Amino acid sequence: MKKVGFVGWRGMVGSVLMDRMVEEQDFANIAPTFFTTSQAGQKAPSFGGKEAGVLLDANDIEALKTQDIIVTCQGGDYTNAVYPKLRAAGWEGYWIDAASALRMEKEAIIVLDPVNQHVISDGLKNGIKTFVGGNCTVSLMLMAIGGLFEKDLVEWVSVATYQAASGAGAKNMRELLEQMGELRDAVKPELADPASSILDIERKVTATMRAEDFPTANFGAALGGSLIPWIDKLLDSGQTKEEWKGYAETNKILGLSDAPIPVDGLCVRIGALRCHSQAFTIKLKKDLPLAEIEQIIAAHNEWVKVIPNDKETTLRELTPAKVTGTLSIPVGRLRKLNMGPEYLAAFTVGDQLLWGAAEPIRRILKQLVV
Ligand code: HSE
Repeated sequence: MKKVGFVGWRGMVGSVLMDRMVEEQDFANIAPTFFTTSQAGQKAPSFGGKEAGVLLDANDIEALKTQDIIVTCQGGDYTNAVYPKLRAAGWEGYWIDAASALRMEKEAIIVLDPVNQHVISDGLKNGIKTFVGGNCTVSLMLMAIGGLFEKDLVEWVSVATYQAASGAGAKNMRELLEQMGELRDAVKPELADPASSILDIERKVTATMRAEDFPTANFGAALGGSLIPWIDKLLDSGQTKEEWKGYAETNKILGLSDAPIPVDGLCVRIGALRCHSQAFTIKLKKDLPLAEIEQIIAAHNEWVKVIPNDKETTLRELTPAKVTGTLSIPVGRLRKLNMGPEYLAAFTVGDQLLWGAAEPIRRILKQLVV
């Protein structure tokens, strides 16, 4: 049985990973050890009924070296601090990482097995030992329209994202809810009075949102009742780093880095809790009937689901409210655009913590322990 060390299992992505591993009974096939940056020596948790002794120090290279596989959801700073030391110490185990730090390294594969099992299998044959989960929007896009890439139908993709607070972290999710609460509280009496003026209500809400003491420490701006067209830092290209990832990571995942497909667009934070949504404009390499396109998208993997382009089904099936907490990847609003018969519109929603983060990590671990 493989020895698997977990780091960052208590955080948001780590907790979702633990839940999924328990659900799928993955702990039955491994000997887990849990590492900590602050509570070494305390009793380790027991997931899936497995006893795991005590917590070990996540910065203790000798302790990490005893593991066959290390799975980390601890974040990029931890990876940057520990991974080079561990490899330099001669450790040849598998490193599985949810953070972005190593994604673009030559020695690492970005894992999304329903999309790039061929890249993963080649990598394993060639002795690759480092596997990293992709950026959430990228993974969710490829789960949604992977069929079009697989059939080599995509000339380029332009994307507008609608990203949830969870992508920015647990504190940001709390801040969003605080903001929403403050906005509502500011007009509670007026809302209860049907005769009150909606424009007065709006003015009060806007004043609250703009007030010095509105809680914006994490987002730096109002998100509740507003949006933020900026995610991550600015690059020389004028893209944000999140926008750059759409191109770089998509092509790396698909194994197309030598002949990349252009993917670009604007990434926007909106007031959803943990589902990222994306609107695509796709230039196809040829004009195909919509029914055939739908069939190609639907056949790609067992989680993607084509949603008919009608209002009732869209409101029922194609929203963060519906998709949150599930592995389902609905794709809808599929139609040809006025620009021409090769131009396709599509809209998708996906859980940022499941397919967007924990699930690809869980699945590569499963492959490595059999
Ligand atoms: N960077 C993403 C976001 C989440 O801010 O939504 C992680 O992939």
